[in-house]
Amino acid sequence: MFQRLRALFGKATIKPSQTLDTENIPQHIAIIMDGNGRWAKSRGLPRMAGHHSGMKTVKRITMAADRLGVKFLTLYAFSTENWKRPKAEVEFLMKLPQEFLSIELNELIEKNVQVRMMGYKSDLPDHTLHAIEEAMHKTANNTGLVLNFALNYGSRSEMLEAVRQIGQSVKAGDLQPEDIEETHLADRLLTAGMPDPDLLIRTSGELRLSNFMLWQLAYSEMWFTDVYWPEFTEEHFYDAITEYQRRARRYGGL
Ligand code: FPP
Repeated sequence: MFQRLRALFGKATIKPSQTLDTENIPQHIAIIMDGNGRWAKSRGLPRMAGHHSGMKTVKRITMAADRLGVKFLTLYAFSTENWKRPKAEVEFLMKLPQEFLSIELNELIEKNVQVRMMGYKSDLPDHTLHAIEEAMHKTANNTGLVLNFALNYGSRSEMLEAVRQIGQSVKAGDLQPEDIEETHLADRLLTAGMPDPDLLIRTSGELRLSNFMLWQLAYSEMWFTDVYWPEFTEEHFYDAITEYQRRARRYGGL
């Protein structure tokens, strides 16, 4: 049944202009948050200002996803390749989870949001890991939106690690090669237990996956926008979901 989304918001200041089918909200939305640097450059600001502004968009979109009843929101915050950036930028990016959580954690707890992280923890600075782990610990029993930060995440490494583990099971004689099924791999990915994304959003006009959830996005709907992440609003988010709702998902069938 179609309803005016406005009804969900009561007197909230956000006034989405489109109509969304509240019964067909994507369960899992994954976002490649891109364009912070270009946004900053276009305003004559340092790149860090773009990342800082991007952090505010994280809050905006997390709250919008929560209000809509999205179950999982996965945000690509730092890739395994992003270490190649200048040291000062990497250090700045590594401080953002801490800053974000120091400001927002109480509200996330209040909203029943569960914070998770997927990525390689061992390379993260202690202060970054500590902030994330504290948030994960404090929200572990929350049952609302799962806010999943992909931090020091790379899809090829994730799949390689899963393949290595399967290889070990085969070597140990616990698994026969001909018995290997999709679930053997999926259960060893960092997303084990989560549904695959229904919708992938990438901002800033780039049309590629950049080593993000290559296995999990096999049947996801993809939505790209030229808008830079710092200026991505709830309205853009609703546009993406509206387009998702127009598409017929066939999963290879007719
Ligand atoms: C890509 O834009 C963005 C990143 C590598 C970092 C994304 C991080 C945030 C949006 C903030 C994260 C906040 C929290 C709470 C973890 P880019 O720098 O590649 O932009 P460009 O392509 O225009 O240079």
